Amino acid sequence: MTVWRRKDLLSLYDLDADEIRLILDTAAEFKKVSERRLKKVPVLRGKTVVNFFVEPSTRTRTSFELAEQRLSADIINIAAVGSSLSKGETLLDTVKNIEALQADIIVMRHSAAGAHNFIASHLKCGVVNAGDGAHSHPTQALLDIFTIIEKKGSVEGLNVSIIGDIRHSRVARSDIWGLIKLGANVTIAGPSTLLPKEFEKIGVKVVDNLEAALEDADVVNLLRIQHERQKVSYFPSVNEYANIFGLNENTAKYLKKDAIIMHPGPINRGVELASSLADGPRSVILEQVTNGLAVRMAVLYLISTVE
Ligand code: CP
Repeated sequence: MTVWRRKDLLSLYDLDADEIRLILDTAAEFKKVSERRLKKVPVLRGKTVVNFFVEPSTRTRTSFELAEQRLSADIINIAAVGSSLSKGETLLDTVKNIEALQADIIVMRHSAAGAHNFIASHLKCGVVNAGDGAHSHPTQALLDIFTIIEKKGSVEGLNVSIIGDIRHSRVARSDIWGLIKLGANVTIAGPSTLLPKEFEKIGVKVVDNLEAALEDADVVNLLRIQHERQKVSYFPSVNEYANIFGLNENTAKYLKKDAIIMHPGPINRGVELASSLADGPRSVILEQVTNGLAVRMAVLYLISTVE
């Protein structure tokens, strides 16, 4: 039996397949709790969780906070605006001060890749990565995989295509590691300027046309173009991107009938994904959001068990 021994969740790259399965199995139990009339459990009673979001978030921040409430934790929320970061305090000083207030777990989102690894190495309290730059977003990948298993029974042997701005996507990096470790066949697709070829070294198929990415896919995960992380233009125009790589009623004809459509959100409607498909019967996008709650309850609970 796998026992959880990590004080931090930084990246799926760090975890082995059994650790990923342990989180998913624990999330399945917490999903049952979320479907009860009484949705709260006392497993984090007396523990303090600090949500420290230096980058914007809707889904991740809300579902972490709700997960913490459901687990009966004491919760503090800190945003960059209004904190002493704006007066020039360093990140390390900030989190050391949070720890000095006896925080048990810090859930952080930060624009700098590796920020969580840095602070975790200086803190005794737990650190959960809620997204760091273009590097890692482990709980997003876990909720994606949880949703795929719910819909398809397993990820082993499934064909999963991730399409869009792979270069700037922490979701893509986390999905790829998690899916590969659990035995999925992963294809990535997008404009060649947004498609890092190094993923081929770990068995990912890299294609630069949409039809090739769609035709065998059991699961299609569309990614947002991350304009905020692009310092130069990687393709001529948003319209051109939508015409060549957008999933819409026209290009969806390449999909298998039982393929499911995923998106981590927020969606650029009409760019990477047409509204008719985002809101259609093959979309599992809102189920991903629902499953994020159970996955984040599982992560916080497992980390809280480590002394
Ligand atoms: N998927 C995701 O991380 O969404 P938010 O940025 O709204 O948290």
